Amino acid sequence: MNKIGSIKVPNGALLAPMADYTNVAFRTLCKKYGASLVYTELVSVKGLIHKNKKIPKLLNVSGEEKPVFLQLFGNDPIDFEKAINFVEKNNSENFVGYDLNAGCSVPKAKKGKYGSYLLDYPKLVRNIIKKMKNSTNKPVTLKMRLGLSDETFLECAKEAESAGVDAICLHARFGNDGYSGKADWKKIHELKNKINVPIIGNGDIFSVKDALEMKKQTNCDFVMIGRASMGNAFIFKQTKEGLLKKKISERTFKEKLVEAKKFIELSKKFNLEINSVKGYFISWVKGEKNAPKLRNEIVMTKSYEELEKIIEKIKQTK
Ligand SMILES: Cc1cc2nc3c(=O)[nH]c(=O)nc-3n(C[C@H](O)[C@H](O)[C@H](O)COP(=O)(O)O)c2cc1C
Repeated sequence: MNKIGSIKVPNGALLAPMADYTNVAFRTLCKKYGASLVYTELVSVKGLIHKNKKIPKLLNVSGEEKPVFLQLFGNDPIDFEKAINFVEKNNSENFVGYDLNAGCSVPKAKKGKYGSYLLDYPKLVRNIIKKMKNSTNKPVTLKMRLGLSDETFLECAKEAESAGVDAICLHARFGNDGYSGKADWKKIHELKNKINVPIIGNGDIFSVKDALEMKKQTNCDFVMIGRASMGNAFIFKQTKEGLLKKKISERTFKEKLVEAKKFIELSKKFNLEINSVKGYFISWVKGEKNAPKLRNEIVMTKSYEELEKIIEKIKQTK
């Protein structure tokens, strides 16, 4: 059993934070399938301080998905202190730790000077981590890329380490590259060799084979999966089996169906509106006959009932 700070992390992959996707139902689903640790999507420190109306939904956590890390974004160390104070006062039991987002690369992040923009300022990364650490006894992690466009990940990691960070996740691409090219796993290996806190490898794990290969090539302590889990929480079951050197289960249509039904059940239980679950099903139909048509139908659905009918229709074609 590995640890991040004081938090025990069982065998299995970590679920990556994904905006508008890793909601309470999806995180719970992934946890049930064997994700070892789950992260919320990015949450604005300013939004927390000013009690933005979206905040309660973003801080909603289920008992079944714990332990959960709350990912925060912003650029002012004082804001992080205030935001963590707010969460510690009002939602402390929901989260076992906090994460600094230094990886987001959407235009909004560059304009707002947060996410991977921070990587041009290693001392700022240090100051934010330091404030976060001073605001809580819980572990603090850093999720970053290789840099915005210049390679600064090692410098940032060293600053974060000296500020007391408990683990570092590296999505091995530059911020300005978005998702183009391939994640450079050699850099994860380099980070692992040069930094003494646990390293979480991330980027381009699309199968259990990739997850095992990343561990082997980089010697990282943990692997984190994002896009490959969309519509496919089963990958966490397979990855856990792989990491435990067990026989890897096959993802049959029957398994897909069980997962989809479970996700609908959880989404209803947590009162998610239909629009926030469509993304899962748009990915879920990948590989099915007439997938583009099915995707359009999913986009148009207005209720869970309609969604369930589409799934039933797919089932009938088997
Ligand atoms: C739809 C989507 C939303 C994302 N939102 C976040 C986010 O809120 N915070 C973050 O640190 N990374 C975010 N990411 C990046 C992922 O956490 C992850 O680092 C990236 O997708 C690479 O991992 P993968 O190749 O396994 O997908 C997002 C990615 C996607 C596809």
